[in-house]
Amino acid sequence: MSDLLRASQAAAELAARHLTGIRDHPVWQPVADDDRAWLSDQPLPASGRSLTELVEDVRTRILPYPMGNGHPGFFGWVNSPPSPAGVVVAPLSSALNPSCAGGEHAGVLLEHAVVRWLADLVGYPHAPGGGLLTSGASMATVVALASARQRAAADEGWDVREDGLSGRPAMVLYVSVEGHSCLRKAAELLGLGSRHVRVVPVDRELRMDVLALREMVASDRAAGMRPFCVAASAGTVNTGAVDPLDEIADVAAEHGLWFHVDGAYGAPGVLADGAADGYAGMARADSLALDPHKWLGVPVDCGCILVRDPRTTRDAFSLVPSYLRDDGAGDLGWLSEYGPEQTRPFRALRVWATMSYLGHDGIVGLVNHCARLARQLSTMVDGSGDFELLAPVTASITAFRHRPAGVPADRLDELNRAIPAVVQRRGRVFITGTRIAGIEALRACFVHPDTGVEDLTTLLDEIREAARQSSVDC
Ligand SMILES: Cc1ncc(COP(=O)(O)O)c(C=O)c1O
Repeated sequence: MSDLLRASQAAAELAARHLTGIRDHPVWQPVADDDRAWLSDQPLPASGRSLTELVEDVRTRILPYPMGNGHPGFFGWVNSPPSPAGVVVAPLSSALNPSCAGGEHAGVLLEHAVVRWLADLVGYPHAPGGGLLTSGASMATVVALASARQRAAADEGWDVREDGLSGRPAMVLYVSVEGHSCLRKAAELLGLGSRHVRVVPVDRELRMDVLALREMVASDRAAGMRPFCVAASAGTVNTGAVDPLDEIADVAAEHGLWFHVDGAYGAPGVLADGAADGYAGMARADSLALDPHKWLGVPVDCGCILVRDPRTTRDAFSLVPSYLRDDGAGDLGWLSEYGPEQTRPFRALRVWATMSYLGHDGIVGLVNHCARLARQLSTMVDGSGDFELLAPVTASITAFRHRPAGVPADRLDELNRAIPAVVQRRGRVFITGTRIAGIEALRACFVHPDTGVEDLTTLLDEIREAARQSSVDC
């Protein structure tokens, strides 16, 4: 048997055993000193090593130190476990190793199909060419805001690609306090200036305050600026809140704003039982970011930007030098004309496999399972006496804090801030923190199909234990 065949089989078996035995290991553990030295300081070998040896190194030195998100006790940030189907096909996309910039091959054709599937899944209107896969929502947001900027300039008779921004009225972007940092990063990258990113306040449910949005747009316009885009959230990263999308779409329509929706994490939440009304208006967006590598479980990396009118996005990015000319490309041209990347990986295979494996019903089942867990945890928090809920549960995130008896109110921030690191080091569950309405919070995000109710009990017990162990002097 060749080294390639033997090592490929060993790697596939290793991956499967890693995933099926995941509960036998800590969710996360600190890296041992000698492994840390091996991982970060090793020299490039003078001569090449066998594939079988490399797989063995992965087994002994790399697999013991996961980030933790494969484990059903991982509730940090928004990081899902890899779907089994995605894991199985990942080596095959590497074996083919195409660039999905364009051309006639399976990678490009499959990308068109899965982008359509994603749009259909969440009820977003799809026109051929109306979206592409990206590294994640951060890059999807760059594509969205660049498209918005292009349209705003074109509406006023200039070309931002040719003229740049200088000497023009400032373009203003509106995001809520709870909007993800990738929006500001994209605005900075596109030369809009963070000074021109307006932070709209939120209501008691942490949803964008539409009255305040209206007032801010009117005041900026009166001051001679060019309000050009409002970015709402369909599932904020802190609490899963869904902004009043329909009302925001009305404001956008009245003021000629591009309406972007960040559904990176939460867009699939529209599929949960009884959730659709809360997402009304999402289908009116000019662009929608949706990360298959979040709730759907497609192995990293895979984001997606969906756009209502593909022509604007093509106008914002298309640049076809003679060495990339393809006379057979058809009306849609190449995918690389719709975003900043030229060489593009074969992400579609992992999306196709993941979505085909689950099917529509399986995806709905996963979303409902996670939404139920978040609600169940909030019920447990409410009934506990030593925990407090900090936000309503909308998608699959529970935001709360620990309030053990005897800890004065002015020490709660310090205590809750200290808890995640202690919980993480104990290795039974993994939680991260944030600030919500000025308060230190713990948040548990549910995206794992194998998380069960018993994990919720463990989570609360681990937080209690971490509070006892923490160095905060209560
Ligand atoms: C709501 C939301 N938007 C955007 C992002 C950024 O996504 P990515 O990390 O894929 O770039 C995240 C990441 O967690 C998110 O939760």
